[in-house]
Amino acid sequence: TRTIRLAVIPGDGIGPEVVAEGLKVLDAVAGAHGLAFDRTEYDLGAARWHRTGETLPDSVLEELRGQDVILLGAVGDPSVPSGVLERGLLLRARFELDHYVNLRPVKLFPGVRTPLAGVTPDDVDMVVVREGTEGPYTGVGGVLRRGTPHEVATQESVNTAFGVERVIRYAFEQAAARPRKKLTLIHKDNVLTYAGDLYQRVLKRVGAEYPQVATDYCHVDAATMFFVTDPKRFDVIVTDNLFGDIITDIGAAIAGGIGLAASGNVNPDRTAPSMFEPVHGSAPDIAGQAKADPTATILSVAMLLDHVGAPEAARRVEQAVSADLAERGAAVRSTPEIGDAIAKRVAG
Ligand code: NAD
Ligand code: IPM
Ligand code: MN
Repeated sequence: TRTIRLAVIPGDGIGPEVVAEGLKVLDAVAGAHGLAFDRTEYDLGAARWHRTGETLPDSVLEELRGQDVILLGAVGDPSVPSGVLERGLLLRARFELDHYVNLRPVKLFPGVRTPLAGVTPDDVDMVVVREGTEGPYTGVGGVLRRGTPHEVATQESVNTAFGVERVIRYAFEQAAARPRKKLTLIHKDNVLTYAGDLYQRVLKRVGAEYPQVATDYCHVDAATMFFVTDPKRFDVIVTDNLFGDIITDIGAAIAGGIGLAASGNVNPDRTAPSMFEPVHGSAPDIAGQAKADPTATILSVAMLLDHVGAPEAARRVEQAVSADLAERGAAVRSTPEIGDAIAKRVAG
């Protein structure tokens, strides 16, 4: 048996509800694949902030560095000013642990209802490689004369040659490993000319090393349209932090809903633990009612298993989810009922 140190950050709102189901499935699959998860739960989020004013203290960050991998639910709460937890906890973890790849598959499972007419699972099967440590997310910028009629708010997009190259390289590797071998850069190089030009030049230069991968470019506004009208044009996508955030919510919608969308904040160089989490947030509108779909978290657990070198366990979880989705239909089940059903399939 191999022991893996797992940090668990349930967080806010539906975070603890969906994480409980993710762990249920992890427990159901681990033993049979020779894995034991040594779990440490971290009390971070709105309650901690109200109690102590802390979001992600240095001491906790250092403890997280000593773990092998992290599972996160969601953060953010209406009782906390917007951005305090999102920036102070989630983005701080992504930046400090160098999660430069935010990996977000967009995959329509058989039997899942999509709002798109006439679309089959073959048409919606892409992987979004979202840059995770740069772009407009760095917090560079500021405000002058706040609250006056002459207020000035700036929010810079930071893009480095180093950061752009490493995420594009990762995306080429992903594309080269897939049957269609197509990589689309999504940006807005007609307006964001400095950053767009950097992405374009690096795509071209690194692309020379991957002649088997076809490259393509799409402006982000047009991409949002094509996600809805022609999703099969996309295979692997590489994009900036903010564009990636936006298009993956559209991706979630076309692939059956935000309750199914998984993600990994990946540090491919393994200099720090990677962090897996559903794409969705803390959903305060349904928190505490056992209405949240835990499937996104369970599929994030499958990505976590792949990351820790347990691909058979990962496939087992994915197959259990796929079977559950195929049989789900319009049945309304509670959060634990969905987790139970998937855990049972995994074990059985
Ligand atoms: P959200 O994803 O929390 O919710 C959007 C809508 O989707 C809501 O109607 C919600 O009920 C629904 N939804 C989300 N997850 C669901 C699930 N598993 N099952 C069924 N329905 C689900 O996004 P929001 O409302 O824009 O943000 C709410 C809070 O979450 C904010 O504080 C925001 O900053 C935060 N947030 C955090 C993360 C994260 O931790 N990674 C991601 C997104 C938003
Ligand atoms: C996500 C979320 C986060 C993001 C927020 C909460 C900081 O929307 O994980 O998609 O923008 O990355
Ligand atoms: Mn988002």
